[in-house]
Amino acid sequence: MSTSALEKALPQPYDILDIRPLQPTIGAEIHGIDIGKPLDPAIRDAIRAAVLDYKVVFFRDQELTPQTHADFARAFGPLYTHPSTVQDDKVAPIHKISALDNGRERELKQRRGVRPGEAYHTDTSWRLVPTWGAVLRAVDLPPIGGDTIWVDAHLAYEGLPQDVKQRLEGLHVTHDFRPALNRVGHDYPIVAHPVVRTHRETGKRVLWVNHTQDPQILGLDLAESDALLDEILIQYKRPEFQVRFTWKPGSVAFWDNRGAVHFAVRNYGDYPRLLDRILIADEPLYADL
Ligand code: SIN
Repeated sequence: MSTSALEKALPQPYDILDIRPLQPTIGAEIHGIDIGKPLDPAIRDAIRAAVLDYKVVFFRDQELTPQTHADFARAFGPLYTHPSTVQDDKVAPIHKISALDNGRERELKQRRGVRPGEAYHTDTSWRLVPTWGAVLRAVDLPPIGGDTIWVDAHLAYEGLPQDVKQRLEGLHVTHDFRPALNRVGHDYPIVAHPVVRTHRETGKRVLWVNHTQDPQILGLDLAESDALLDEILIQYKRPEFQVRFTWKPGSVAFWDNRGAVHFAVRNYGDYPRLLDRILIADEPLYADL
């Protein structure tokens, strides 16, 4: 049998999943699976393939506990404990993403250049080796509002005007999260990543900037850096590159932090919205750096 005939005979990764894309390249719901139960390796690999392809996948009507939430995330790599995680349940490094975290809000407001509606970011971009995955679980949701938006950062790059792509070539951006890290006694240097990163697994070029951590492009004066970062923000805000997810009780999102940036819509007043997030470390060789 020729290789291509053999490939056709084998099940494609998604044949074993009920996967329903929400947008052409970003966001898919996966149905018919209880992620609170141990995953068959073939199912696990299919989910992983879907996360790489769609950048973020969603599960509905799940009944996870902190333990099963962690078990699911751990199937995709070692868990990463964020320095500001308050590990009160002792089960896993669960990071409470809470609307009551006034420190986080204050931090955002004080930062140079973060205007309302512009907090598009990736998680742990301040690290030399950012976490690759995140599994976010609804815990306490406002009756309406509080959606999350993810952006296909590859499409955002592809959609840039040619001259902007050329200007970005070879440039690096710093993300300064030190004020927040210092508050929890964590000392970490400022590192720089390529503005256009190459995804380690898909090989795709992605526009990779965290607008919540005072980004600055090295080697440019501040005005020029800000102008380029604004161009990137315009890309992130384009609806054709986005998927918007409305949380319901039992919803879980699993995304590839290297292929997407995201934004939490803050439109629910004083409601104490709460989600539990578990981060998955990247590349074992460097993950501790
Ligand atoms: C996050 O920024 O990691 C969480 C997104 C959200 O609160 O919707």
